[in-house]
Amino acid sequence: MKHLLSTQDLSRDEAVLILDTTAQMAATQEREVKKLPTLRGRTVVNLFFEDSTRTRISFETAAKRLSADVINFSAKGSSLSKGESLKDTALTLKAMGADAVIIRHQASGAPHTLATAGWLDAPVINAGDGTHQHPTQALLDAYTMRRHLVPSPLGKDLAGLKIVIVGDVLHSRVARANVHLLHTLGARVTLVAPPTLLPVGIESWPCEISYHLDEAIDAVQPDAIMMLRVQRERMSSSGGGFFPSPLEYTRLYGLDGRRLARLPDHAIVLHPGPMNRGLEISADAADSPRSVIVEQVTNGVAVRMAVLYLLLTGRTDAATTSLNAPK
Ligand code: CP
Repeated sequence: MKHLLSTQDLSRDEAVLILDTTAQMAATQEREVKKLPTLRGRTVVNLFFEDSTRTRISFETAAKRLSADVINFSAKGSSLSKGESLKDTALTLKAMGADAVIIRHQASGAPHTLATAGWLDAPVINAGDGTHQHPTQALLDAYTMRRHLVPSPLGKDLAGLKIVIVGDVLHSRVARANVHLLHTLGARVTLVAPPTLLPVGIESWPCEISYHLDEAIDAVQPDAIMMLRVQRERMSSSGGGFFPSPLEYTRLYGLDGRRLARLPDHAIVLHPGPMNRGLEISADAADSPRSVIVEQVTNGVAVRMAVLYLLLTGRTDAATTSLNAPK
């Protein structure tokens, strides 16, 4: 694994290795080993062309907890806003000695271009590109599900779990990344959305499709339900309307206390954030004891530590002794 661009590139063994390494990173944090020396002297660049709260901050935290130096580079306030190309930006980062580049970009495929055009020698990590992929989000979601739903999870995948993902699949890189990763890990995925919020070509995705949330909950009896953010900003910029209307959407596809009560007792609730409270998820569902939404953010740091560790050290086995640093 030289780069992390898409969950479709991950084999089952690679995905399990990342989840196992995440568990070890999380264990160091639980032991209050705040900083590991693993990436001392390395420089990680956060290259964000689109806004982010969770992903950017957690990559920065992850890199710092591994003792790397971090350069934060956002489109606003840099020469990108003067029209500098991706190629010239990449050459500048190379000249500055970047050892890894984390990129979020509004264009699907931008991380792939950065990784394969020959402008950089460093590993490239996709932090979300257009409507295409968000691999570290899917990995932190899978890690969170494994922690809650798989007894003795180390070395295990998600075989036999039933996951329902609900909402604006059309604009969601999180949905696409999750469907492929969860399928690779052996879970059965059902997407639930209005037909207007499903992308062309959805039939080829390795999942089932339903247009009715209540029917899907009753039929699937999911172990986990993931609510997607309705991406109203992408709807207005593409000239498309929002159909069904927000009120109708909440009635048909929103997760509220009534639907929460229909889920199996052990089922957990996920949302990648940021949430539209009152639209795709009610406040009582978001804040319920079944919600693992805040824990997803915590797990995001450990997942990103694992990805940086594996890509920058070239390790192909889960970390062991190198993580046993003193407090
Ligand atoms: N889930 C996620 O990608 O959130 P941010 O946009 O805040 O990074």
